[in-house]
Amino acid sequence: MESLIKKVEESLKNMSPKNAEELEAFRLHLLSRKGLISELFDKFREIPGEEKKKFGAPINQLKKAAEERFRLVKEELEASQEQNIDLGIDASLPLNNLKAGSRHPLKLVLEEMQDIFIRAGFVVEDGPEIEDDWHNFSALNFPPDHPARDMQDTFFINEEFALRTHTSSIQVRVMERGELPIRIIAPGRVYRNEAVSARANCFFHQVEGLYIDKGVSMADMKQMLLYFAQEFFGKDATIRLRPSYFPFTEPSAEMDVSCFLCSGKGCNVCKYTGWLEIMGCGMVDPAVLESCGLDPEVYSGYAFGIGVERIAMLKYDVKDLRTFFENDIRFLSQFRSKG
Ligand code: PHE
Repeated sequence: MESLIKKVEESLKNMSPKNAEELEAFRLHLLSRKGLISELFDKFREIPGEEKKKFGAPINQLKKAAEERFRLVKEELEASQEQNIDLGIDASLPLNNLKAGSRHPLKLVLEEMQDIFIRAGFVVEDGPEIEDDWHNFSALNFPPDHPARDMQDTFFINEEFALRTHTSSIQVRVMERGELPIRIIAPGRVYRNEAVSARANCFFHQVEGLYIDKGVSMADMKQMLLYFAQEFFGKDATIRLRPSYFPFTEPSAEMDVSCFLCSGKGCNVCKYTGWLEIMGCGMVDPAVLESCGLDPEVYSGYAFGIGVERIAMLKYDVKDLRTFFENDIRFLSQFRSKG
């Protein structure tokens, strides 16, 4: 009898079930009909009366303790299971090898840019990466066979569809919805059939913006882009606009920001010019507004397009564009998010 009691005590001490399987083993070992406690009570029935007095209380206590332990663990397991279902977490997975990841540098830059425009009242819009000719070209004032189509070497899928060469296609979709005023940014991946090198890739990312309302002027655009430059590159940043050409804007410009490394004095990053070219921009061509169903007599607006890789290369001093896409953990783990 005593040795059996010891055995039960030991089991109670050593077994601490942590999952459903271990709990079942605990139950079988101690509490089932063939378990140790049952055996204890069988034995108890056989021993003489005076010994019964000695063992009655302790074995009842043991039984209670085992039942209590079983009940508690079961409740705990059920509670954590409910919680896990709520959180969609599998708590049985081992934690030991969990290493915190880092954010991709392009995503960090993209989100920083996005936040600046969101603070200024822009909303983010999305669109398909496989685009039809209308949204990628025709609506944007690229007539068929117009040489401007060669500005963007295109991956065609068939006569009608291509991989979008810019996220301006999203702007067309939003204008066609006809809900004015429009103040959107369109971030996303774009594709161009270019030879891959340290400075060019066959796909990259853009953030394009569009603002359309009554009476929007080029001064509004300049102010907004200056605000962006100062938020992103620092309060001392200045900008300049150089005349350029895009089929969908008139007038069109390239925007430069004063070099944030040398503050415009000249260094090897800005090629000793003091300026860094960071985006294309311009006033939306009336022909584009018309194509998208907006009256150019009533509405006007500006658009701009920024290359995310270009900005990320400048910001992080990355010399080869391809490193963004190689998924080399030694490169990626150097980047951390702000918060
Ligand atoms: N869509 C142009 C490009 O990809 C960029 C741009 C957008 C230029 C808006 C002007 C206005 O090159």
